[in-house]
Parts: sequence; structure tokens; C-alpha cells
Amino acid sequence: MSGHTKKVRYAVVGGGQISQQAFMPGIAATENSELAALVTGDPVKADQLANKYGIKAWSYDQYETLLHSGEIDAVYVATPNALHVNYVVSALEAGIHVLLEKPATASLADAEQIMDVQKRSGTKLMVAYRLHHEPGTVEMVTRAQRGDFGDLRFFTASFAQNIAEENSRGHNGYWGGPVPDMGTYPLNAVRNLFGLEPISAHAVGGKTAGRTFNFHDTVAVTLQFPGDRVAQFTVSYATAPVERFTLVGTKTTIEASPCFMFGADVGITYIETNAEGSKTHEFDPVEQFGNETQYFSDCILHDREPEADAEEGWLDVRVLAAIEQSLETGEVVPLEPIKRSRRLEPDQALNLKPANAPTEKQLINVISQSA
Ligand SMILES: NC(=O)c1ccc[n+]([C@@H]2O[C@H](COP(=O)([O-])OP(=O)(O)OC[C@H]3O[C@@H](n4cnc5c(N)ncnc54)[C@H](OP(=O)(O)O)[C@@H]3O)[C@@H](O)[C@H]2O)c1
Repeated sequence: MSGHTKKVRYAVVGGGQISQQAFMPGIAATENSELAALVTGDPVKADQLANKYGIKAWSYDQYETLLHSGEIDAVYVATPNALHVNYVVSALEAGIHVLLEKPATASLADAEQIMDVQKRSGTKLMVAYRLHHEPGTVEMVTRAQRGDFGDLRFFTASFAQNIAEENSRGHNGYWGGPVPDMGTYPLNAVRNLFGLEPISAHAVGGKTAGRTFNFHDTVAVTLQFPGDRVAQFTVSYATAPVERFTLVGTKTTIEASPCFMFGADVGITYIETNAEGSKTHEFDPVEQFGNETQYFSDCILHDREPEADAEEGWLDVRVLAAIEQSLETGEVVPLEPIKRSRRLEPDQALNLKPANAPTEKQLINVISQSA
């Protein structure tokens, strides 16, 4: 850790949109974390982006050297999904903690490998589920779990954006596409709201005329959960934006929107409706990236295991893999019944104020995801 201030020193791996727009500015809102290095393949970013934050840039070829340099304590891995695994495994093996962007990996085998290496290494890993530290989300999950909404019966959600084919997520097959990228949000939400793991997955996908994605750009998923609970979500890369979910219990319905995004203007909000009427619960925008980093650094500094650990990432990836299989076969894909060893806790909610984020125009050499 850095000197007497006890701050966890992070290297950013991949200076793409999320690193520039969210993680790098967000870390300034924390008390216990600092930027220490940038790993990039782009000489312009190595110069301008590293200079902007006063940090040293390293190339991907120098990654191993960086891991053993003594200059960092942790990495934030924000490369395209299919490239996460190698950066994660090398870091864990070098004793460097890992904050890993979602989805954890682009295959089940990679997610299993990460779980194994993490256990063996004893180094900490957290999947960057920023909403696990967002007060509105944590309140919904906490209330769902303590029975405020009755017996939880079903969940539906929509999450869509208009994504540019040129962006890395626009041409890398299923694992760069909308199910792993955006479906992870409703999937992770419903797993935590129900406090259960799905027992089957079925999906139907379509390709929008005039678009050139090399995967189904719009996908509807149905999940079955223990106790005859069901969940459905639809995600798309080719439509107007939408983000909402509905959770229905035997006593109460909650309708949440916005519920998946982040930003200085995004206050997570839900409407609770029951026999007595409707009530809106609106939460102030928070620094979601700073919050998750503050929490993870706290786990590192106090030797606690983060809640969104490698198992939490793997539990989403195993469903994403089943959805891929269902899209290929048209069949319902059974999932082995499983119990998660831990769940999101109420005290994980943090309230750091939103940092000043650069506009999309101010980003350095980013191929925007917006079409
Ligand atoms: N938590 C959230 O809200 C959130 C939001 C968006 C994205 N994400 C996740 O964060 C990760 C990155 O997403 P992003 O939107 O930042 O993507 P992006 O803009 O495409 O950036 C990815 C970066 O990875 C680096 N990279 C290394 N090898 C690459 C290769 N072969 N091809 C392309 N890029 C390569 C590049 O950085 P250099 O040029 O510096 O090498 C690139 O800019 C994904 O896993 C995504 O799911 C999370």
C-alpha cells in the first residue's frame, strides 16, 4: 500500500470508455484508493491519458513486469470481456488484487479457472457489480429478502441501448453482445432479489434488419427458479434506450427505473404498489465506481473477502453460457440446483458523491459504444 496513507494503488488495464469515463475519475472520490498506473496498447493514451492523471503507462508486454514492480497493489481489468481472464490470472498469481469488470469472463471454463486461481492464491478478487453498493438497489434487495413484498413470484426487465458495430462489443460474437454485456444486470438483480439461483434458461433471439452485428442483437430470456418463480428479461443493442424492471410478490409490486445505469444524473428509483397505494422511492445519484472501489479497497486493507467474489461472477457466467446454448439449440437448458454461499449485505451501500466525469467528446481515442 502507498506509504503512511494506506491507499490501495490501482493499475487500470485497458484505457477504454468505462475506464476513462467512470473508473479513473471515480477513484478520486474514495478515501482509500489511488490511481498508480495505466496499462494500454495505445501510445496516444500512454502519453495523454497517463499524463492527465500523473501516472506511469505500461504496455501489455510489460504487464508481468508491472505486476512484480512493487508499484501497484491491485488492477482494475476493463478490457473487452474475452480478454479479461489472462490479465486476471497473472495478477492473482503475482499476489495483486483484482477488481474485475462484468461479465467476469467470456466462457464458463475461464470463470472456473478464475475461481480456482483466486482460492489457491489467497489474493482478493471482486467483480465490479457497482449496483451492489448503490443505496436504492441495496434497499430493494434487502426488502425483498426480508419479505416486505410478500412471496416473490416473478420478475421482468428490459435493458437496451443503440450500440455501434465498430465498438469492441459490436463484432465479437455472443460474448461481446447484449446478453453478457447488458443481460448481466437483470440477471444479477433477480438472482439477488430472489436470493436464489436459476434452475433452467431458455432464450429466443433476433437480428435487426440493416444492422451488421455478428450475433443476435435482441434477445428475450426466460429463467426458472426454485419454488416455481420465473424471471424474464429482454436486452438489445439495436433500439432506443430503456432500463426498467418489475418485481412482483404476493403483496407488493415494485417497478424500478432507472435501475441499471450510472452517472451524475442517474438516481435509482422504484415505485412500490400494494393494497394501500403507491409510494415512490427516489435515491440521489452516487459515485457508483468510487463506491465499489472504496468497498473493495476496504476489503483489501482489512483482510475481508468481498461479497461480489469470484463465485458471484461465475454464477452469472454459468447462466450466460446456458443462454448461449439455448440460443443455439432452441431448447430449455437445465442448470444444476445450487446455493450461493453469501449475499449482498445492507451495509454495502455507500454514498460517495458523483465525481466529475469527462464528456464523451473529451475521451481519448475511444471508439464510442453509442450508434
Ligand atoms: N460496470 C459498468 O457499468 C460497465 C460499463 C461499460 C463497460 N463495462 C465493462 O468494461 C469492460 C470494457 O468496456 P468498455 O466499454 O470500456 O470497452 P472499450 O471502450 O472497447 O474499451 C476496452 C479497452 O480495452 C483495451 N483493449 C485491450 N486489448 C484490446 C483488443 N484486442 N481490442 C479492443 N480493446 C482492447 C483497449 O484499451 P487500450 O487502448 O488502452 O489498450 C480498449 O480501449 C467490458 O468488460 C465491459 O463489459 C462495465
